[in-house]
Amino acid sequence: MEKIMVEKSPPLRGNVRVSGAKNSALPILAASLLGTEDIILEDVPRLKDVEVICEVLTSLGAKVEFLDRETIKINSSNIKNYETPYELMSKMRASFLVMGPLLTRIGKTKTSLPGGCAIGTRPIDLHLKGFRALGAEIDVDHGNIGAYADKLVGDRIYLDFPSVGATENIMMAATMAEGETIIDNAAMEPEIVDLANFLNKLGADIKGAGTSSIRIKGVEKLGGTTHSIIPDRIEAGTFMVAAAITKGDVVVENTISSHIKPVIAKLREVGCEIYENGDKIRVIGPDNLKATDIKTLPYPGFPTDMQAQFMALMSVCNGTSVVIETVFENRFMHVDELKRMGADIKIDGKSAIIQGVDELAGAPVKATDLRAGAALVLAGLVANGVTEIENIYHIDRGYSNIEEKFRNLGAIIYRK
Ligand code: EPU
Repeated sequence: MEKIMVEKSPPLRGNVRVSGAKNSALPILAASLLGTEDIILEDVPRLKDVEVICEVLTSLGAKVEFLDRETIKINSSNIKNYETPYELMSKMRASFLVMGPLLTRIGKTKTSLPGGCAIGTRPIDLHLKGFRALGAEIDVDHGNIGAYADKLVGDRIYLDFPSVGATENIMMAATMAEGETIIDNAAMEPEIVDLANFLNKLGADIKGAGTSSIRIKGVEKLGGTTHSIIPDRIEAGTFMVAAAITKGDVVVENTISSHIKPVIAKLREVGCEIYENGDKIRVIGPDNLKATDIKTLPYPGFPTDMQAQFMALMSVCNGTSVVIETVFENRFMHVDELKRMGADIKIDGKSAIIQGVDELAGAPVKATDLRAGAALVLAGLVANGVTEIENIYHIDRGYSNIEEKFRNLGAIIYRK
């Protein structure tokens, strides 16, 4: 099994360009099942998860072609299947996002139930609540889940929690439902706005994406378009933390700073100098990193997908920091791994208390999920000796060319 090795590195310096957002690309690729003409997607990050959803689309009958490394052409005019194979579903939870498009496009969809995953049970009740409200019949048996509807009819749906995936799935299902659908307490993430923009370019009629109330007027048919995926705010945030933790000076390119306001604010609190200029953000790490507190929340709050990376940073800040995780119930698995490297962290329910230490020490560690893996890379940059990270397939699911990007900034990182 390949490992990523990280050695104590000099302060990172230079420029890094972030890729398109994984969490935008996945729903937009799923939404490509809705269009009956050619769709061209640009700035698609070349990631394991993207490959998996492309396989899902192909298995359903779509033609998927890479025009170059980050451009994909999709034609879904001839969707033949409505069942997502178990092997693909089990590789990636986000495969579930094809349900909404299939339901509205061909009136039926069947897949295996996504299980829990490392970061929590992650139920799909809200997705199903939305499908039912639109008139679908839901059938769960032997671990499979099917949704069927001769005709979907718009309705008003209140989400008990602003789930990103449920908002996306219901929004996609509603594009061709009869009449108007309103999603209240909708997720407001930039990735929702990107998906709505894409769907509108295909001919959908969606208003209010980016607010907590999204209105979708059903249309007869969706066509084709060319669309560029927005930059990955979490990848940007990860490199910004890398600048902070190594006390370096890094310019992160291809960013939308308004998407990462909480990350910028918290990095300023730990003492970083941050300059925003067009699509570039320059982060200069301070000599003296100060402790801070974070609480993860749905957008526009502090992103749960940056929690692990901040915990790595807090491990070497001066003083005591507190992290409260409110989005997922079990997203502290990186704590044990960081402790193996000498971090002083205690967990109390949803909170982690981090007492900054002077030094971390390289150790063999495991990436328990994608962002946990990123946190271990960050910790490895400042730990004495070598950090040997196992289970790096998690990292490859969400970061494209991670070693090359870090190496270009002066980091000592390689695969073995
Ligand atoms: N939830 C429910 N019922 C549902 C749906 C969600 O209770 O029907 C709960 C979940 O159990 C969880 C919370 O709501 O506790 C948030 O889940 P959400 O549905 O918002 O997340 P998601 O759509 O499954 C996406 C990202 C995640 C990111 C979350 C939160 C994609 C493909 N994934 O997941 O990304 O953490 O939103 O922002 O967009 C990552 O990139 O590392 C990652 C995990």
